[in-house]
Amino acid sequence: MYSLIKSLLFRLDPELAHDLTLHGLSALRPVLRLLARGRKSARTKAFGVVFDGPVGLAAGLDKNAYVGSLWAAFGFGFVEIGTVTPRPQAGNPKPRLFRIPEKEAIVNRMGFNNEGMERVRKRLLRDPHVVPIGINAGKNKDTPNDRAYEDYVAVLDYLYDVGDYFVVNVSSPNTVGLRDLQRGENLSRLLGEIYRWRRSKRPRKPLLLKLAPEIEGEDMEEIARLCERNDIDGVILTNTLKVEGGGLSGRPLFPISTRRIEEWKAISDLPVVGVGGIFSRRDAEEKMRRGAVLTQVLTGFVYRGWDVFR
Ligand SMILES: Cc1cc2nc3c(=O)[nH]c(=O)nc-3n(C[C@H](O)[C@H](O)[C@H](O)COP(=O)(O)O)c2cc1C
Repeated sequence: MYSLIKSLLFRLDPELAHDLTLHGLSALRPVLRLLARGRKSARTKAFGVVFDGPVGLAAGLDKNAYVGSLWAAFGFGFVEIGTVTPRPQAGNPKPRLFRIPEKEAIVNRMGFNNEGMERVRKRLLRDPHVVPIGINAGKNKDTPNDRAYEDYVAVLDYLYDVGDYFVVNVSSPNTVGLRDLQRGENLSRLLGEIYRWRRSKRPRKPLLLKLAPEIEGEDMEEIARLCERNDIDGVILTNTLKVEGGGLSGRPLFPISTRRIEEWKAISDLPVVGVGGIFSRRDAEEKMRRGAVLTQVLTGFVYRGWDVFR
């Protein structure tokens, strides 16, 4: 079934295919709701949240919550929305999304195109949540790094009641300077400000940090200590790999993103969500064997559809 849909969609420009799919699925929400109700769930607990299964949809496919938790109809145990910024923004000029079918990979330089936190909040309130929702927060392109925390706190605060866990994304390669927020002083200040905001928030909800696959060694250790000091609940390993033209995802990312899980587990007890290059149940199990508590998929779902759960 999916190979038929894919043979049609893959004839179109990648971003057009993506937009058509999201609008189509959004219109089919009543059907998805029925399908989601009939799904089997394999409950998995992590950071105090009960997930409906260990494989979730990674950030970037449903940035604006067109389908939201109803992705569960395809087998996802949780769904991460975003990256969401405070204000809507157009992202980078098109074309900015490229398939590399022979490698089962994607290169994208979307640049946090999204409709902004207000629209996302309205959409998340439309349907009851059938599986847990993560909110992945970012900063607007024109916000300088020394004020980035204002954007992150704005998104986290505005969407706090509509999410089950939250993500600080400092690792997309397509917003100039964003990855500098992963480093020492910048990250210390960012996490410190978020910590101050979060102290008074009730109920307490988990907050994760999403890292780039290039982070290793001493940099990783420094990040781990900052996470522990600022009450971060876990990390998502990894975002896309920076290559010519954007960020690389899919098959070629599997070995490096999986190695990062082991490296993290060797230096910190904070739980890991493993993402990068999962194309089958066996791939997801491999990430969990290396120490991930949960996993996420994006590119594998584009190439394989619901067969990624097999
Ligand atoms: C088209 C596209 C858009 C993405 N957008 C985001 C994003 O907005 N925020 C984010 O944290 N990660 C984003 N990602 C990264 C994915 O969440 C994931 O970390 C990465 O693609 C590796 O997983 P995969 O190999 O299963 O795709 C995006 C990936 C792709 C392919």
